[in-house]
Amino acid sequence: MGRRALRRNDADLDLSGHLADAEQFPDGWSPGDLFPSPAPLEIEVGSGKGLFLETVSGEHPDRNYLGIEIARKYARFAASRIARCQRTNAVVVAGDAMLLFQRRLVTESVQAVHVYFPDPWWKKRHHKRRVMNSSFLEQVARVLQPGGEFHFWTDVLEYSQGAQQLLDEIPQLEGPFPVEPREAEHDMDYRTHFERRVCLKDEPVYRSRFVRTAG
Ligand SMILES: C[S@@+](CC[C@H](N)C(=O)[O-])C[C@H]1O[C@@H](n2cnc3c(N)ncnc32)[C@H](O)[C@@H]1O
Repeated sequence: MGRRALRRNDADLDLSGHLADAEQFPDGWSPGDLFPSPAPLEIEVGSGKGLFLETVSGEHPDRNYLGIEIARKYARFAASRIARCQRTNAVVVAGDAMLLFQRRLVTESVQAVHVYFPDPWWKKRHHKRRVMNSSFLEQVARVLQPGGEFHFWTDVLEYSQGAQQLLDEIPQLEGPFPVEPREAEHDMDYRTHFERRVCLKDEPVYRSRFVRTAG
């Protein structure tokens, strides 16, 4: 899906508390190092323009939100958004979520993982590039605390069904539990920019939620 040009970031904005580079983390780094206060951690993979991070970090000041975004210009854009709102409980890491999950996240350390509208990689030969692959989902099951939640939304039916087949192989992630759509109360009242775009076109969104079992 094409994307419009990004609005220019404010050059004077101090992003030091809101943007980090995954390649510069020292050995032994953990996500808690990014936040001023310890709190339950939620992770969004592929934050795009950062609407989700801005909304939820305001709604839940008692939780920490880590966005991981591989495209540096989007990571910067999302970080600027949360810096402008002065959220101390949200940080964007520029980097590959796959690597961070594999190498940096401790087992049973995360309260929720969110994946919204991941790139569909339409061609079958490109499906291996999809974020929702077996090895990533195994990592999600590993890093989530028992009772923790995994949220996956997409507008691509075939992606939703393919991911469900992979999730069927991971018994620690129980679901899918239904997620009811809700009416937007204002122009930006959507979970993410992609949800807004899809809903404004009156196209369907496939929303699913999974819960990490205690076993
Ligand atoms: C289609 S966009 C959706 C953005 C946002 N979630 C939304 O719903 O508006 C997918 C985003 O995932 C990012 N992405 C893709 N692969 C990634 C990876 N391995 N790690 C982190 N981000 C990734 C892309 O750069 C892009 O910004």
